[in-house]
Amino acid sequence: MNNRIIKFAPALLLIILAPLSARAGDHVFSRRLYPKFQTRACTVCHDFYERTRNGLAFSSHRKRLDPNRCPKCHNAGVTGFKHPEEWFAMPGLYTSGMSPRQTCKKIKEALHARFKSDRLIAAQVERHLFTDPRVLWGIEGATEKSGRLPFKKREKDLVKGGLDEWGKEVRMWTAGGLECE
Ligand code: HEC
Ligand code: HEC
Repeated sequence: MNNRIIKFAPALLLIILAPLSARAGDHVFSRRLYPKFQTRACTVCHDFYERTRNGLAFSSHRKRLDPNRCPKCHNAGVTGFKHPEEWFAMPGLYTSGMSPRQTCKKIKEALHARFKSDRLIAAQVERHLFTDPRVLWGIEGATEKSGRLPFKKREKDLVKGGLDEWGKEVRMWTAGGLECE
């Protein structure tokens, strides 16, 4: 019995302390957004050309690599995108398996944050995360077609919590200066 309490004590402590540290900008990336960024709906596309992450370019999509053909299958009827050509993938973004810190740094690097004011980068991150059709496709319930794939397939691992929670957490992150903690 005593052994059990000792074993679970650290976990209990975390549960008790977690709400205390959920203030704006405080670990909001690592605790709240990171698990969402690591959902399969996001990473499967970001991992597309990553051999070590079992990217689709090396499996089911080996013969579907022509970027001009992506929207032929992932067409507007499937994705709901106004501009179906926005369905594409590219390497050099964050991938699955990265730590919270790596994920966050990589995102800022992709946006060339180093050369931009805090305000500009916050505005760009918000624009991307609130309006990019690919991001909305990955969030449960964000659009009617979120998670839809060609041939009546579906990605089931979507970002949970819906748009309200997503909006709140992204704003906490940008308001807190996009900290990578
Ligand atoms: C269909 C493929 C695809 C899906 C699905 C996708 N992304 Fe992306 N993402 C991209 C591409 C390609 C870029 C490169 C930049 C661009 O084209 O705007 C990108 C860029 C990004 C960036 C960097 C910001 C920028 O403007 O470069 C972030 C952050 C990001 N995606 C987050 C997400 C999240 C979170 C999800 C899931 C909710 C997601 N992505 C789903 C393809 C995708
Ligand atoms: C011949 C039709 C076809 C073409 C062309 C095609 N896809 Fe797909 N795509 C599919 C189908 C079907 C699926 C469902 C799962 C699978 O087969 O891998 C899929 C799944 C995906 C997924 C998500 C997988 C998941 O499980 O969530 C991504 C990301 C993706 N495709 C990106 C692309 C990109 C980027 C291109 C162009 C470079 C492309 N696809 C070209 C048919 C196609």
